Amino acid sequence: MINNPSAPIGIFDSGIGGLTVAHAITQLLPNERIIYFGDTAHLPYGDKSEAAIQAYSIKIADVLLKRGCKVIVIACNSASSAAYELLKEYVNKQAHVVNVIDPMVEFVSSHFQDKNIGLIGTKRTVQSGIYSKKIQEYQKGILLKPLATPLLAPMIEEGYFNNKISHDLIEEYLSNDSLKEINALILACTHYPLIKTEIKDFYNGSVEILDSSEVVALALKKLLKKNQLLANNVLPTHSFLVSDFTESFEVSTQIFFGSMVRLQMHTLWS
Ligand code: DGL
Repeated sequence: MINNPSAPIGIFDSGIGGLTVAHAITQLLPNERIIYFGDTAHLPYGDKSEAAIQAYSIKIADVLLKRGCKVIVIACNSASSAAYELLKEYVNKQAHVVNVIDPMVEFVSSHFQDKNIGLIGTKRTVQSGIYSKKIQEYQKGILLKPLATPLLAPMIEEGYFNNKISHDLIEEYLSNDSLKEINALILACTHYPLIKTEIKDFYNGSVEILDSSEVVALALKKLLKKNQLLANNVLPTHSFLVSDFTESFEVSTQIFFGSMVRLQMHTLWS
């Protein structure tokens, strides 16, 4: 296990979605250095098989471990549902592994007893049933109402948000009967915080919108503290790797992290 506090934190997603988590991490832990990997060559993950996502995740973990990461954050619900257990075993004692599902399940279970909670996510996440299983383990009488919304992540990845197309698609999905009578809605895809305002507008304050970026950052801080791994780096330099160059990725990293972001290409298979 890497026990060097100044070592970087590795974070990955299929594309720009995980930047919402990476951003929350750098806000809460400004002395941490991050290495972000966007697997843009293989997005969207949400309609891939479990086996394919596991293979991508292992390859990305290799890249992050080679760069000395002390923790790997799976900043993607699809990969967290398909590959977390496998990745934990694979990484073994070389680094800690954090997923985006457990912190949200813990949060929901302690704040929404006996409530109806909607969930939107990719097909992979919703079909895995992982949120329902984990929430049930807490036995808090929560009824989960999930809906797969597979067009949202590719739409966001293409830069379509805050416009008529995104408005119509969001309205179409959120009007679905399976999301009726909910008290809160889990955004179970790390791309969705980018359309959080539009989702909030749809519900007009009647439903609480739960975005995992902050709870994941808090869970990460707790883990680092417990293992005496909190960094003290002054003005850390972050790195952004992509498996394929996309303009939307570059634009999004600049929105989140300023204009100095330089993307590095890193193919997973040579
Ligand atoms: N951001 C990802 C998630 O949380 C993946 C979206 C996709 O690539 O389909 O599931």
